[in-house]
Amino acid sequence: MSISPSDRIIVPLDVSSEAEAIALIEKLPQVTFWKVGLELFVSSGSHILTELKSREKQIFLDLKFHDIPNTIAGACAAAARYGVDLLTIHATCGKAGLQHAQSAMQTSADQSGFPAPKLIAISLLTSISARTLAFELKIPLELPEYALEMALLAQDSGLAGAVCSPQEVAQLRQTCGDDFVLVCPGVRPLWAEAGDQKRTLTPIAALQAGADYLVIGRPITASADPRGAFERICQELEG
Ligand code: C5P
Repeated sequence: MSISPSDRIIVPLDVSSEAEAIALIEKLPQVTFWKVGLELFVSSGSHILTELKSREKQIFLDLKFHDIPNTIAGACAAAARYGVDLLTIHATCGKAGLQHAQSAMQTSADQSGFPAPKLIAISLLTSISARTLAFELKIPLELPEYALEMALLAQDSGLAGAVCSPQEVAQLRQTCGDDFVLVCPGVRPLWAEAGDQKRTLTPIAALQAGADYLVIGRPITASADPRGAFERICQELEG
């Protein structure tokens, strides 16, 4: 079944309380897919997930898990019990950890009656520069090559996809094939401010380059007219 443009836009709930999150959800009733990240989850707990499910929204639980295989598997199994749709884990957990997480998550989803979430790898945080990679993390690969290797490790470990920057999406789509789910933040319509996001692509360019889902925050949430901004992006994607 093909996904409509509006279902490809994931809006982050980048707020620190459940009340603020619910206010945002109610301000944007057309949004079907919401991202819950560390700030909201740590400050307000898991109840926001139940709230989103009761409103029949899709959930991207972006907690970027990173730990030993046993712990990561337990965390992914627990996340599957909320019925979330996408879930993130660092590719640097390694193959054993990724495989263990994937199978524990699948078992837990089967037991709880929800479809299994798609487990999505973080290849490299976009805040890590080429300089940091080389001189602090001591990784002797060029940044795009490293990000690609981590995505391939995730794919080889049975994960559903990866988060990637607009710069990497075309190459990852070409290398990892059509079934690998690519989630792309750092997306900006031409009429929106880039803010702290660098080397952005427009929503339509990111989809054309191969992204499946676009994480778009401030161009919508910080707009004077959030609903209008969301609709304008949907229209641009449909056009
Ligand atoms: O407001 P903006 O569109 O920049 O929000 C992007 C969202 O995507 C934020 O929640 C941010 O934490 C997240 N994100 C990102 N870059 C990544 C991974 C996630 O900007 N590599």
